Amino acid sequence: EREGYPHFMLKEIHEQPRALQETMGSSISDLQLTPAQIRGFSKVVITACGTSYHAGLIGKYVLERLARVPVDVDVASEFRYSDPLIDENSLVIAMSQSGETADTLAAIKEARKKGCRTLSITNVVDSTITRETDDVIYTRAGTEISIAATKAYTTQVMVMYLLGMLFARERGWCSTDKLAVLEAVLYQVPDWIEEILEQENNIQEIAGHYHTCDDFFYLGRGLDWAVALEGALKLKETSYVHAEAFAAGELKHGPLALITEGVPVVALATQEDLMEKTVSNIRVVKARGGSAIGITVGQSDLVDETCDYVFQLPKAPSVCEPAAVSGCSAALCLLHILCPGLRCR
Ligand code: F6R
Repeated sequence: EREGYPHFMLKEIHEQPRALQETMGSSISDLQLTPAQIRGFSKVVITACGTSYHAGLIGKYVLERLARVPVDVDVASEFRYSDPLIDENSLVIAMSQSGETADTLAAIKEARKKGCRTLSITNVVDSTITRETDDVIYTRAGTEISIAATKAYTTQVMVMYLLGMLFARERGWCSTDKLAVLEAVLYQVPDWIEEILEQENNIQEIAGHYHTCDDFFYLGRGLDWAVALEGALKLKETSYVHAEAFAAGELKHGPLALITEGVPVVALATQEDLMEKTVSNIRVVKARGGSAIGITVGQSDLVDETCDYVFQLPKAPSVCEPAAVSGCSAALCLLHILCPGLRCR
């Protein structure tokens, strides 16, 4: 069943291009929401746990940027006790790969009690969550056996983009031309991930330089921060080492104290408009003796000059800024490969 892969996680990492194609091909077509309902929401709340929560953070970015609708993202285990400020004009989205996570189910019950419209995004057909929500969108990742979620996450991110585009169209915040460009970009993502997967040996080699380290830090801004959080979670789960993610700008507000000689910092700098800012944070890491692993898009002299190792992701056309999905999905894909590499402690 592992088809020659040493473990299911790696097999599922390699299934990402296919899973994304499937998800793009079908997923939001069954949505029952009417254009009037989509226009009528005053806010969206995304609630989820773990990796699904991290995909929700990307969802906030995408929905707010593309459709200008305010989005809160809440950890489901907190949401259910927080007496959330939601009402019948709110859309509450529950994101759950399995569709069975107790806290996420409880959050949805709370949302229904308050009269909200509810939507689940899940990978498992007929899971409990699908019966508890008004609408369902299925990610088409295929069965995920590995405990550490990989293709489930990237397909959730893809659904967030598809939903963001739908909301943008209905709420009139994005020109048809811009949406067409974004759609074309999304169709390229599976190929980009394929390209990243081809760098696997390279990535494993670099991972080999760090496999005895006990602490890892991840930093990024905007979308990169959301991806950094997921990268750190994955590393903890798969390698049993301490890993933490920071918004890059927060480094100077305390965490810098932990960056000492040789401590590895994975710096995500995939968004051109934030590149210089993030590079200035990398410089500070280097000044403290830390070791920087940069993840960027295309050729960036700035990142090259400051980092010890650099991964270049394929570059999306910069016509539409949320095309950062390329950076985001591909960066994650890269981190997913890096994790098992680090496991050989
Ligand atoms: C991490 C991971 C978990 C799940 C979380 C929620 O790799 O898999 O953090 O994301 O337990 O699970 P679902 O999405 O099934 O609700």
